[in-house]
Amino acid sequence: MSTPHISAEKGEVAERILLPGDPLRAKWIAENYFENVKQYNAVRNMFGYTGTYKGERVSVQGTGMGLPSISIYVTELFDHFDVQTAIRIGTCGALLEKTKIGDVIIAMTASTDSNINRRFTNGLDFAPHADFELLRAAYEASSELPNIHVGGVASMDYFYDETDSLQKLIAHGVLGVEMETSQLYSIAARKQRRALSILTVSDHIITHESMPAIDREKSLNTMVEIALSALIKG
Ligand code: HPA
Repeated sequence: MSTPHISAEKGEVAERILLPGDPLRAKWIAENYFENVKQYNAVRNMFGYTGTYKGERVSVQGTGMGLPSISIYVTELFDHFDVQTAIRIGTCGALLEKTKIGDVIIAMTASTDSNINRRFTNGLDFAPHADFELLRAAYEASSELPNIHVGGVASMDYFYDETDSLQKLIAHGVLGVEMETSQLYSIAARKQRRALSILTVSDHIITHESMPAIDREKSLNTMVEIALSALIKG
């Protein structure tokens, strides 16, 4: 039974899934980390694959950028494909001095400037948070690694924010900004599923540094390996 954005039969998607924003990263993960790979989705080139990792059945699905886009994919994955556990992997912009290019942020919670959650809560500010078991598994998988941070991120509607909102986030100790985690955590909470976001710092909002192309693959691999470990152990 396909959905408008995922053309697959119900059993073709695993109960545990990785969610990169970039569909080409989904393809790359399937090709480099999975065995017995089968592509189940190509609608809008938002690729999805199922395979095995260390003998465990897992999937990887691109979600696109922004809260509305990820909300479409996770809603369909949770409602129609019975996905139980979802780990987003992505990049973020760092806000604090201690979060450096290439560091990994495990997102405990995600603030947002979007009104999207309030539609479900009659205006109350729900505080979206990660699943603790997944967060612990990710932290344990990264315990030998330097430059791992656990804390809050913010999922913003604008990439090119022209306001001083980011200063307010810095004042609250928010580690980094991206555009998806708040919706992943909120939808998972409403549908009683487990979710986590793991983010690599690709650029720094204050210093304007960005990750050199040559470092991208290695840094992103670290995050993928933490996420896959948490997905099968958490
Ligand atoms: N905002 C700003 N910088 C970023 C983001 C974002 O969403 N993602 C990666 N760098």
